[in-house]
Amino acid sequence: MKVTAVQGNILEYDADLVVVNLFEGVTTPGGATGAVDRALNGQITDLIAAGDFEGKLNETLYLYSNGALPARRILIVGLGKQDEFTLDRARQAAGKAARTARDLGAKRVASIVHGAGIGGLDPVDAARAAAEGTVLGLYRYQRYTSDENGKELDSVTFVEADAEKFAAVSQGVSEGLAIGDAQNFVRDLATTPGSDLPPAALAEAASSMAQEFGLQCTILGPEEIAAENMNVILGVSRGSDQPCRFIVLDYTPDEVTDQTIVLAGKGITFDTGGLNLKPGDSMRHMECDMAGGASVIGAMRLVGHFKPSVRVIGLVPASENMPGGNAFKPGDVLRAANGKTIEIDNTDAEGRLVLADALCYAQRYDPTAIIDIATLTGAVIIALGQHAAGLMTNHAGLAAKVVAAGEVTGERVWELPLWPEYEEQVKSTIADVKNTGGRAAGSITGAALLKLFVDEKPWVHLDVAGVDFTDMDRPYIPKGSSGFGARLLFQVVRDWEDGLE
Ligand code: BES
Ligand code: MN
Ligand code: ZN
Repeated sequence: MKVTAVQGNILEYDADLVVVNLFEGVTTPGGATGAVDRALNGQITDLIAAGDFEGKLNETLYLYSNGALPARRILIVGLGKQDEFTLDRARQAAGKAARTARDLGAKRVASIVHGAGIGGLDPVDAARAAAEGTVLGLYRYQRYTSDENGKELDSVTFVEADAEKFAAVSQGVSEGLAIGDAQNFVRDLATTPGSDLPPAALAEAASSMAQEFGLQCTILGPEEIAAENMNVILGVSRGSDQPCRFIVLDYTPDEVTDQTIVLAGKGITFDTGGLNLKPGDSMRHMECDMAGGASVIGAMRLVGHFKPSVRVIGLVPASENMPGGNAFKPGDVLRAANGKTIEIDNTDAEGRLVLADALCYAQRYDPTAIIDIATLTGAVIIALGQHAAGLMTNHAGLAAKVVAAGEVTGERVWELPLWPEYEEQVKSTIADVKNTGGRAAGSITGAALLKLFVDEKPWVHLDVAGVDFTDMDRPYIPKGSSGFGARLLFQVVRDWEDGLE
């Protein structure tokens, strides 16, 4: 499917279907929608007057042009109330429109850029959001389907009439396409069944991405992981027949910089819980337990594509968590790469374990900031549901940057406190720390363990267990793996500028 921008008049554009939009409460459409309305002898105005179309967010209605336009069908998508309009609503409208056009059997779609006119958005931002929404909304996982899934669009063309805005729209569309593709790549990785994406395959995927996008990639196997004293990763992987991997992606810009951002993502390619075996229902989507790692790989793909001016390192400790005969056991003590010891209270709290070693590894880069991202706890689903990732931090300035990036990308995060009092819950009597803290504040005690391994560097922990997977179809997030995080992490890198206060 091709997504492009052209300069021209949407009234004259030859497509199967043309997409226009409407804010809620508008009775006489303006802009491109108004022009289409006039060409259709006021049909859209009539629909509004009759109460058949209100412009509610993501509401759609289609009508026939009957020869008044080259396009056979016109699709109107609602943008909701104008004073509640956001970049994310533009993304949603684009996703909803693209999916509706596909359902209608259209092949060639032409659309205006939602929000770039009356909506008042910056044209680059609006066009980027429109392309993202389109590419993300149309996503399907097709690795195992034998039929072609029926209907597919051939092209979506964003038509901009204003010559002065066109360069911006064109730039936004090409950026949005790259960003949407990266997130879909994350979805592909996270959706792939556990048996078909063991640690070695995840590492292989990262390495071929790195080749394609000009990043340096180093893959450590079990011996090299042992040589780095990352015994905690080895401990977690002991119950599995699949050898672990430690993935290192390195982007160093041409111009000298003293800013280094380390992104670390949990890469548990399947989480059975280990000897603390999960019940069946809870295990069902644990092939997605590497979603944090995949989002780091996706963010690094965007770093390779856009080549920002800061250094960015991506780290993914990749392992299965299995209950094999040699599996690590409750009560075991593992020693992390920085020498700290961890009592294993529950083998199902494995994400914080592999990340502990990754955070130790991060120190060699003398990082300006560290962001880790992980499907760490079921508790964060209880706290925040599917609409925000949990954020925990030791640095308010870094957290503010991540929160701001969440607003821009629509990948929202919400801070939970990480007061020292919570550290009490992970105190061990036989080791430096234990890997669980009881039922109370389960997401925070996970972060409290990680905090011991960041060596007081500015750090943000993102718990994405609630947002990485969705069972409700949303305008640009179809059911399944959402691909959350790549856009968010990349946005932080992109907006980095002068670093931290
Ligand atoms: N991968 C899970 C967390 C998870 C749960 C992700 C549901 C996505 C959906 C993690 O490894 C885990 O099992 N966490 C335990 C921690 C507990 C044993 C302290 C949990 O949340 O129950
Ligand atoms: Mn687990
Ligand atoms: Zn897990």
